[in-house]
Amino acid sequence: MLWLTAIFLCKIYASVGEIADIGTVPKGVNPTLYDSVEDSVIQLDETTFNDTVFCTGREDCSSYLVEFYSDWCGHCRSYAPVYKSFAKDIRGWNKVVKIAAMNCADPLNDVTCRANGILFFPYMKYFPRNSSDTFYGVKLRPYQSLAEMRDQLTQVILQDYAINRFDDWPNFDILGDITTYGELWHGAKESADNMAIIFESDTSSLVGAQLLLDLTKYNDRLLARRCHKSHPLVDALHINDFPTLAVFRRGERVPVLIAELRRLLLSELEEYLRNENNFRERDIAFSSRRNRTDICAANPEKCKVLYYASEQDMLKALRYALLREVTRSGGYLHGSNLTALYTFVDALAQHFPQVSLTNLGGNETEVLLDHSARARMVFMQLRDFIGSRGFNEPLSADNWQTEFIRAEQAQGNPFPVTLDWDHCRGSSAQFRGYTCGLWTTFHALTVRAFKNSANDVSFRPLSILHSIRDWVGEFFGCEHCRNHFLKMTTKTFKMESQVRQSEDVFMYLWRAHNIVNARLKGRETEDPKFPKYQFPPLFLCPNCQEEQGRLNENEVLNYLLHYYSSIKPIQDDPTTQQSTFV
Ligand SMILES: Cc1cc2nc3c(=O)[nH]c(=O)nc-3n(C[C@H](O)[C@H](O)[C@H](O)COP(=O)(O)OP(=O)(O)OC[C@H]3O[C@@H](n4cnc5c(N)ncnc54)[C@H](O)[C@@H]3O)c2cc1C
Ligand SMILES: *[C@@H]1O[C@H](CO)[C@@H](O)[C@H](O)[C@H]1NC(C)=O
Ligand SMILES: *[C@@H]1O[C@H](CO)[C@@H](O)[C@H](O)[C@H]1NC(C)=O
Ligand SMILES: *[C@@H]1O[C@H](CO)[C@@H](O)[C@H](O)[C@H]1NC(C)=O
Ligand SMILES: *[C@@H]1O[C@H](CO)[C@@H](O)[C@H](O)[C@H]1NC(C)=O
Ligand SMILES: *[C@@H]1O[C@H](CO)[C@@H](O)[C@H](O)[C@H]1NC(C)=O
Repeated sequence: MLWLTAIFLCKIYASVGEIADIGTVPKGVNPTLYDSVEDSVIQLDETTFNDTVFCTGREDCSSYLVEFYSDWCGHCRSYAPVYKSFAKDIRGWNKVVKIAAMNCADPLNDVTCRANGILFFPYMKYFPRNSSDTFYGVKLRPYQSLAEMRDQLTQVILQDYAINRFDDWPNFDILGDITTYGELWHGAKESADNMAIIFESDTSSLVGAQLLLDLTKYNDRLLARRCHKSHPLVDALHINDFPTLAVFRRGERVPVLIAELRRLLLSELEEYLRNENNFRERDIAFSSRRNRTDICAANPEKCKVLYYASEQDMLKALRYALLREVTRSGGYLHGSNLTALYTFVDALAQHFPQVSLTNLGGNETEVLLDHSARARMVFMQLRDFIGSRGFNEPLSADNWQTEFIRAEQAQGNPFPVTLDWDHCRGSSAQFRGYTCGLWTTFHALTVRAFKNSANDVSFRPLSILHSIRDWVGEFFGCEHCRNHFLKMTTKTFKMESQVRQSEDVFMYLWRAHNIVNARLKGRETEDPKFPKYQFPPLFLCPNCQEEQGRLNENEVLNYLLHYYSSIKPIQDDPTTQQSTFV
């Protein structure tokens, strides 16, 4: 009876546990950066993560390398091709380690991303084979080169092996003393008729371990071992150069092959060919971009209509920024991050625009933006919430989230949740979106603050800019962006030395954003339909252009004042009933 129950339980377990593999389509609402079919990257989600990665008791358990990313993060987007190539390159290692990814921007995956303490994107973790909890994950770095990625992964696999010595893994031990030739074959499968020995000069060399990993798929036919140059076999075989590979057949004492080993020979060639393709694609993208720019020059009206500050984009970005980014790592807000949250929400409460210039019968008039006016009430409520509880006690991420939801419900859910990005919609899902909405918000906020300060002698432009910088520094999930922004605003283009007059509150951000645009121009994160211009481009503001492509700052000032005061209202919002936290 007990025995029957056990079988029954096993069946239930097997049908509940969902194990993701290549081909598994992840659940969730956001676009993902990987293709379940095309790419060698396993896509995990909330329902599969634990059962896949925490593999205890299964026969086919392996270690996992997981990239936690965010689909909107530019650096993640440009990193995705590297990660795909890497996954493909080491697909042969998959009995030992599998390559996976998880989109932490997807609300479905919140709990798992939090449990893993994901602080920024992309965030790389190695889970040893018998991990049973997030606790065992080891943080790795997202290197740009495949060789560095391979070396780093090999190192953690070797550490894992040093502790656990799984017997179906390659035998990474350095060959020890042997007294008979037969001992060499110790541990070989019966079916294995060949043995490869890699001779290395340095015990910390990773070449041999990598070759062993490459060869795991042949382990029915071949036993592979590592051997140090001090071993007596080296003299016996007259080996002088390292690393060298010797291949033996069972029963034969003279190797069938001795060759100096350049492990990277094959994959270097492949990588070269792959890159050559990339370069070609890039050139094609560049030339089509140039044509598009020309289209804008030839037909400015066509491009002009694509550019505007959108209420929808700003509110969408702010909900994500305040609700999801702030609570990403769970835990508590305290000290500098609590202060940063307070001052940012305070700036929004004071200056988030709630009116828009509209042209009525030839006259410019200000009309109320209904959603934004209610969103401002939310910001006020949140500011007062922090203000009244004070800064001494830590504020838990959960409490903050609850307060946010309560405040937005009280205002009839002004933030669009199910609507797509508007001006910030990319020509495909991996472009633009959140970061575009964030920039738009920063510009419109600072323009409004300037207008509000018209008669205010106590206005301090730097305090608004500091609240933006502090929010970015504490919470912006794109690590790469955050670091660049902090470096620029504190060192290379220092806020404190650039901002003197009231209008610098928005002129500074305009300059800073153009520095970012110049740096990102031509990168793979650039949406071909929205190339990185020095803003505003000719087709938006012909008067702003001076000779040699320089911009006339007075014209730009007027242009920005108008552009970021004429906000396109949310057109249609089917989501006023929504209120789950997405
Ligand atoms: C603080 C911050 C730092 C970032 N750092 C990086 C980084 O280091 N690496 C990276 O890959 N990505 C970074 N990003 C993201 C990147 O800047 C873009 O947001 C992203 O590439 C999407 O570009 P986009 O075409 O939608 O236009 P965005 O650059 O996002 O601009 C949004 C809109 O603002 C307007 N605009 C453009 N330039 C200006 C300007 N100078 N002044 C006023 N308005 C302007 C245009 O209407 C444009 O469509 C950062 C984003 C932010 C918010
Ligand atoms: C993994 O399992 C081995 C036994 O197979 C055990 O010695 C080791 O402590 C385990 N490691 C972890 C991280 O649980
Ligand atoms: C996954 O396991 C962690 C413990 O490591 C647990 O906290 C979490 O709730 C689990 N997630 C699911 C969806 O079961
Ligand atoms: C871009 O312009 C070049 C010549 O100027 C032309 O040969 C090419 O076909 C154009 N490409 C596109 C995508 O229009
Ligand atoms: C906020 O700062 C506190 C104190 O330095 C730290 O313990 C906490 O992890 C931080 N929280 C977040 C969400 O960054
Ligand atoms: C526009 O403004 C002018 C003068 O300021 C005024 O006479 C006219 O009635 C206004 N038109 C509209 C449609 O408000």
